Amino acid sequence: MIITSCGNSILIAKQLARKLKVKYSPLKISFFPDGELYLRFKDNVKGKKVVIIHSFQPNSNLSLLKVLFAATTAKDLGAKKIILIAPYLAYLRQDKRFKPGEAISSRVMAKYLNASIDQLITFDPHLHRYRSLDEIFTIPTQKLTANELIADYIQKKFKPVKDIVIVGPDRESYQWAEAIAQKIGAESTILWKKRSSSRKVNVNVVKLVDLKGKHIVIVDDLISTGHTIAEAAKLAKKKGARKITAMAVHGLFAEQGYERLKKAGVQQIITTNCIKHKSNQIEITPLLIKSIR
Ligand code: R5P
Repeated sequence: MIITSCGNSILIAKQLARKLKVKYSPLKISFFPDGELYLRFKDNVKGKKVVIIHSFQPNSNLSLLKVLFAATTAKDLGAKKIILIAPYLAYLRQDKRFKPGEAISSRVMAKYLNASIDQLITFDPHLHRYRSLDEIFTIPTQKLTANELIADYIQKKFKPVKDIVIVGPDRESYQWAEAIAQKIGAESTILWKKRSSSRKVNVNVVKLVDLKGKHIVIVDDLISTGHTIAEAAKLAKKKGARKITAMAVHGLFAEQGYERLKKAGVQQIITTNCIKHKSNQIEITPLLIKSIR
């Protein structure tokens, strides 16, 4: 087996290679003067299992292209099996045609990956209208979750548990927020969210839970622009929250998302290292090692 990366998850790839005692093989990736992608395997991959570790952020579009180039080339060079570990898999939020004529990006992305890789491992994919990855992937997939890691972090760092309310900022977030609340025995609530555009959301309370004087831990799968969590934080502040923490598996922080959360009164922002960012406090590598073994 060799482990490689297309650039976004080099640290994780190297850690994994070290722990599994297999070779980390860097790729040469550059661009021709006209902007076209150039990619080269430096080591011989013939007959080998090639594990490509690459998060689809930053730059989802280029990430997809790099992974397709790497996987297709590895196969071409005689690799036995190609496994893609995408700690963050992009394009899943466009899971239907919201307006006539739109591309269903998740299906397009899956179609190309199905044709290029043999297996996919990812963390907390954004499954909303799809119940499982099998609805778009024909290759074997494995969905890992960072829920336990997030729950352990809360249990270790935030005390006492009776002071904490876990808040899911929208209906889709129940998968993360409620599972975590149950695991640590904290109270929880899921807000109602109306999204009018990528940059405009409104949130409101559905279940009455007293937030006064509490440490509100808002948990979601991903933070993109941060508008969702910022609105949830403003609401929590209005309801008298004492402290607000935001936690997510995937911190994309598009368009100053990090600063937006800070401005909305979020005191702590904590993410896993699925996407490299200064807010990373939770390491996913131990789970990956188990899964690869
Ligand atoms: C949506 O369903 C996701 O779980 C996130 O709540 C959302 O995509 C976050 O986007 P943003 O940070 O741009 O509001």
